[in-house]
Amino acid sequence: MTFDVTADAYARFMGQYADPLAEQFVDFAHARTGQRALDVGCGPGTLTARLVERLGTDGVAAIDPSDSFVAATQARFPGLDVRSGVAERLPYPDDSFDLAVAQLVVHFMSDPVAGLTEMARVTGPGGVVAACVWDHAGDAGPLAAFWRAVHDIDPDAPGEADLAGTREGHLAQLFGEAGLQDVEPATLSVRVRFATFEDWWQPFTLGVGPAGGYVAALDDEGRDVLRARCAQLLPDAPFEISASAWSVRARPGG
Ligand SMILES: C[S@@+](CC[C@H](N)C(=O)[O-])C[C@H]1O[C@@H](n2cnc3c(N)ncnc32)[C@H](O)[C@@H]1O
Repeated sequence: MTFDVTADAYARFMGQYADPLAEQFVDFAHARTGQRALDVGCGPGTLTARLVERLGTDGVAAIDPSDSFVAATQARFPGLDVRSGVAERLPYPDDSFDLAVAQLVVHFMSDPVAGLTEMARVTGPGGVVAACVWDHAGDAGPLAAFWRAVHDIDPDAPGEADLAGTREGHLAQLFGEAGLQDVEPATLSVRVRFATFEDWWQPFTLGVGPAGGYVAALDDEGRDVLRARCAQLLPDAPFEISASAWSVRARPGG
C-alpha cells in the first residue's frame, strides 16, 4: 500500500493538486448545508476539510484503509466519525447519507463497481454519489510529465493510465455498471505553479502513491537518470502544471 505515508508527505505530493480540486468538487457534488456526507478514501482529509466547512463536523463521516491517514484525519477534525475500511465494504447502514463522494479513489479500489455500488447503498434514493479521477490515460493528469519520463527510460514500467476510470468515459461507465442513474459527467481542471524544478521533483521522493513507490524502488543512479529526464521534459522554471479530472455525479437507483 503506497498510501502508508504521513499526512505531510501526502500534502506535499498530491495534496497540492487535490486541494484546489476539492474546492471545485464539493460544488460539483452539490454539497449543501444540512446534508450528511461520506468521504470515501478520505486520505489525510483534503476533501473532508471542504465538506466540514459546509456541513460541519456532525454532517461528515470519512473512511480510508490507510491507518496513518485515518489517524491524521481524526487528529485534524476532533469529533469527526473517521473509520478504517474500504469502499467495497462500507460499515454503514443503507441510506445513511445524502451524499457519498470519492475524490481520486476509484482507480485505487480493487473492485470499483463494488465500491460505487456500496456508495449508492449507503446514500439511498434522492441522494448524490460523486467521484473524480485524474485523466491519466489522456496524459492530462498532474503526473503526466513524470510517467512520460519513466516510459522514455523504461517502456515496460507500470503507470497509472491503465487504472479504472482514468480514460475518457470509463468513470461514467463504472457508475452505470454500479446501477447509478442520471449519470452526469464533467471535467474539472486545476493549475499548480512551481517556482523551481526541485520544488516539483522533491515530492516524488516521498514514497506517496504509485509514482512515489516507483521512485523509491530505484537505486541512486536510476533516480538521477529519471530526475534528469523529467527536467528535460518540463519547461524552464517557473512553470505551471495543469491537470484534469474526469468527474461524475449520479443518483442511486430507487
Ligand atoms: C490519491 S488518495 C486521495 C485522498 C483524498 N480523497 C484526496 O482527495 O486527497 C487515494 C486514497 O484512496 C485510499 N484507498 C485506496 N484503496 C481504497 C479503497 N478500496 N477504498 C477506499 N479508499 C481507498 C487510499 O488509502 C488513499 O487515501
